Amino acid sequence: MSEPTRSRIFVTRKIPGTALDRLREAHDVSIWPDELPPAPEQLLENVAGCDGLLTMLSDRIDETVIKAAGPQLKVVSNYAVGFNNIDLKAAREHGVCVGNTPDVLTGATADLAVTLLLAAARRVEEGAAEVREGRWGAWKPSALLGVEPEGKTVGVVGMGRIGKAFAERMVRGWNMNLLYTSRSDQADVDESLGGRRVDLDELLAESDFVSIHVALTDDTRNLIDAAALSRMKSTSVLVNTARGEIIDQDALVEAIKGGRIFAAGLDVTTPEPLPPSHPLVGLPRVIILPHIGSATDTSRCGMAEIAVDNVLAGVAGRPLRCEVPLG
Ligand code: DGY
Repeated sequence: MSEPTRSRIFVTRKIPGTALDRLREAHDVSIWPDELPPAPEQLLENVAGCDGLLTMLSDRIDETVIKAAGPQLKVVSNYAVGFNNIDLKAAREHGVCVGNTPDVLTGATADLAVTLLLAAARRVEEGAAEVREGRWGAWKPSALLGVEPEGKTVGVVGMGRIGKAFAERMVRGWNMNLLYTSRSDQADVDESLGGRRVDLDELLAESDFVSIHVALTDDTRNLIDAAALSRMKSTSVLVNTARGEIIDQDALVEAIKGGRIFAAGLDVTTPEPLPPSHPLVGLPRVIILPHIGSATDTSRCGMAEIAVDNVLAGVAGRPLRCEVPLG
């Protein structure tokens, strides 16, 4: 009996868990060994001749990369729910399937949005810095006053899986009124969470807390620009766990400096990593995390299992476990 064909797979970073063992058993796998991602030219070199790629959200997979892999490339399996780093048009034109890792990171990412909301609203970063830097003086009645979510209005921009999980946490935990934007009506959200679908302008004007949960597309790039920020309440808190490019960061710097909004909590920025010299870093009432929305052992191992299943299916010519529609 002939041996089953072994495909060539390149994995652009070591990933948690044991899922890669399943890939290695079935195929010839090379894994980029460094903590830092392969540089563009290293990526081109390593993908050559591969049938499948398992990529990170920080790897730009454009037509050059797809062509460099060669016509045998069948699947790009992204280790993320987002796939804005992949040129879907090029994938479709070259007959390459694209996979992502939804669901397993929904709760973790929603939890981090809640964490950022509370941390920004309660000025946790500024308080911790006072302690760290020896500036903790006498207890002052008016020091580091923040804002409370209880009974206020939360605006969720994008009511997908993560937006909904975040909304559930805020409505059930803090008894908040819910406004949201969505391409379609969400009867279950309206019924179970008392949500109301509104347009973005109304959401920004009415919400005390605004959290971004849309995918990055040409339509959502810079969605929260100077005009959008100017519609928000001066006491409001902005949270972003989606993609940095959705917020115009220069406008956000001005909005925070000018007191046009109260605070911001960001897990995503442009670029990533954000250089320490960037004007957003160190601004009072801005807390920034290094894109750790899905960074729990459970989520990252779950993502690894899906990403590996996607590669295995893709190279075998089967439908992916989680396939990104290519239009
Ligand atoms: C994703 O998977 O797209 C998230 O941004 C990871 O945190």
